[in-house]
Amino acid sequence: MRTKTKLTVLPGDGIGPEVITQAMRVLRTVADLCGYELEVRECPVGGVAIKQSQSPFPRATMDACLESDAVLLGAVGGLEYDTLPRNMRPETGLLQLRTALGGYANLRPAISYPCLSAGSPLRAEVTQGANILIIRELLGGLYFGEPRQKTDDVAFNTMRYTLPEIQRVARIGFEQARKRKRKLTSIDKANVLEVSQLWRDTVAALAAEYPDVTLDHLYVDAAAMHLVMNPRRFDVIVTENLFGDILSDEAAVITGSLGMLASATIGGQVALYEPVHGSAPDIAGKGIANPLGAIATVAMLLRHTLGLQQEADDVEAAISQVLEQGYRTADLHRGAGAQLVSTTEMGERVEAAVAEKINRRHSYHAV
Ligand code: NAD
Ligand code: IPM
Ligand code: MN
Repeated sequence: MRTKTKLTVLPGDGIGPEVITQAMRVLRTVADLCGYELEVRECPVGGVAIKQSQSPFPRATMDACLESDAVLLGAVGGLEYDTLPRNMRPETGLLQLRTALGGYANLRPAISYPCLSAGSPLRAEVTQGANILIIRELLGGLYFGEPRQKTDDVAFNTMRYTLPEIQRVARIGFEQARKRKRKLTSIDKANVLEVSQLWRDTVAALAAEYPDVTLDHLYVDAAAMHLVMNPRRFDVIVTENLFGDILSDEAAVITGSLGMLASATIGGQVALYEPVHGSAPDIAGKGIANPLGAIATVAMLLRHTLGLQQEADDVEAAISQVLEQGYRTADLHRGAGAQLVSTTEMGERVEAAVAEKINRRHSYHAV
């Protein structure tokens, strides 16, 4: 029996369409080989949507997303939109999309690939073996808190969290830790902020329900230091929206490039999948962007929405394999014997490696 999955694809701006083309190449191949039928709709969001319909998140895009099983986003934003009023900016469209889908737990894994560690500004012995899952709360905090205002001489935002908002994302943290090394680190600024005191008290109180998970707490400033001093000290991190935004870009240094990081947002009506990086206007249109973060995002989609665990593992293994073989986009470290490849060639290499893994398993089972 073939299963049909509805996917809305939002390529967005800058390198968004470039990396999404490669991610979709891999996804379609996996779906074909596994007998999954994908019903794909492509819609505008961000700057392209502003150009087409004067809105960064048009109604038709929202409707398509809400009718889907999953949404795959590239990236939004660009210099030409930076002077628009806040409610008209591409980034506002992204925040509206996240709100509409309702996912509050943004899972951002950061993994050190052995063959890339020589290229990290961090020493290989520091990064090697690091495998961190950052869970960023995505619908609260300073991004959405009211009141917020800007006048000519004063401006303010509000970092606001309710007890249930903290509990639900903390639970995801404990549950994800259970599937890994059973260690959860909650990051806050409880020595200064009331909102962080509530955060810390709430996470600490939940720990009693997860006696098999070891919980510790760090202040965000110290956590930023520990992340690059000793990334292996972390297993799962749970933190509020802005702290998670900043720490996940910092964690990119452990992996070798911001272009490597994937994300999945769960807990809502429709799951949202997006690489962590932005539209990278400095390299857009050149065919040199790293598509591996977007492709790893497809692995998360296979795992969390389609329930294809093995195929998700295959995509991740294919990424490692292609890196081990020495293929590198321009952002990645190139040691002796490494070969510089374009965005498209990197996508094609991963696609071929995944297809080979799946075909080999199928023929093994057929014997
Ligand atoms: P960025 O993530 O776009 O780029 C930061 C740096 O990383 C740049 O030097 C860029 O070239 C590099 N980089 C990022 N992704 C890469 C990839 N896949 N391959 C190779 N190199 C890559 O962040 P920025 O420059 O601060 O922001 C640019 C625009 O993107 C802004 O408009 C910002 O608001 C937006 N943005 C969007 C998202 C999103 O849509 N999810 C995320 C972050 C930033
Ligand atoms: C991210 C981005 C977004 C965020 C921006 C573009 C709104 O930086 O997804 O990390 O801050 O959440
Ligand atoms: Mn960010």
